[in-house]
Amino acid sequence: MRVLGLETSCDETAAAVVDETGVRSELAWTQEVHAAWGGVVPELAARAHLERLGAVVAAALSEAGIARPDAVAATAGPGLIGAVLVGFSAARALASAWDVPFKAVHHLEGHLLAAQLEPVSPPWPHLCLIVSGGHTTLYRAEALGQYRVLGASVDDAAGEAYDKVARMLGLGYPGGPLVDALAAEGDPHAVALPRPLQGHDDMSFSGLKTAVRQHLERPGRASDADVCASFQAAVVDVLVGRVERAVRATGVRHVTVGGGVAANRGLRAALIASAGRLGVGLTLPAPSRCTDNAAMIAVAGRMRLLREGPDAADVGARAAWSLA
Ligand code: KG4
Ligand code: ZN
Repeated sequence: MRVLGLETSCDETAAAVVDETGVRSELAWTQEVHAAWGGVVPELAARAHLERLGAVVAAALSEAGIARPDAVAATAGPGLIGAVLVGFSAARALASAWDVPFKAVHHLEGHLLAAQLEPVSPPWPHLCLIVSGGHTTLYRAEALGQYRVLGASVDDAAGEAYDKVARMLGLGYPGGPLVDALAAEGDPHAVALPRPLQGHDDMSFSGLKTAVRQHLERPGRASDADVCASFQAAVVDVLVGRVERAVRATGVRHVTVGGGVAANRGLRAALIASAGRLGVGLTLPAPSRCTDNAAMIAVAGRMRLLREGPDAADVGARAAWSLA
């Protein structure tokens, strides 16, 4: 079954075709209008999706070498509801016009199932750390659709902290990749920063962000590269610490990741080292499938369609939607 997936929940206008052999085509157009505002402007995001979606869908179908798919899936939430509705409504309309099944996909289930697109798909059960701009949650994934939260951020998401630190340094938006690049040139021990909530299942990144701000207000502050490296080391310590704690507590022997921050080079290197130390399996999706993309939505929709069949014709989109 060839499934066309659409993703428009934030600032990526993305379409992909996935079948039993894997990804047949995938396109993502990153909206640039938001950079000037220092963050995603919901109204502008929705309008930009509307402008580009048709061309992106046409290109995904043509690259896959098909005139129409066997089914359509789209992100139905959570996300910026105006942005979600553009892709969701288009997908529902296309499925209806083509007379093929439609599946509404939970954006975070997409991130969680991105690992399924790797050459060797991860075994169930596994632990999945989702670290994005809006979520930082560690799940125990028992089977498709059976996800238990083991711990989550009690305040800012890790990606949000990255974006805020980037803004403090005047680096631009989105901040994560810019901080990641600068961190590679800095000393992770230059600035002493806290590792909040150590010994707990939950996480916190708000205090860490404040500690960076306080450091920057002091005279004789470290260089931007040293600040980025120290901040990244603290975030990575917190995240990898929670994964290791969960491996010990659950005995689950395989770990996967998803979400934009999972593209972070420091985090990926630390997870590889940690998996080696603990002797557990690790699946790291390609960086372009960690940030928002449509292949993850297509594969999630495909897996759900094969298991439970299509959604009712009047299925809706939702701004807030719990995965667990
Ligand atoms: O999953 P995603 O693309 O969108 C959401 O669902 O939120 O995640 C976006 C977040 C942003 O906060 C962005 O700064 C962060 O992921 N991000 C990174 C990196 N690439 C993207 N954070 C750290 N290092 C990166 N390389
Ligand atoms: Zn996302």
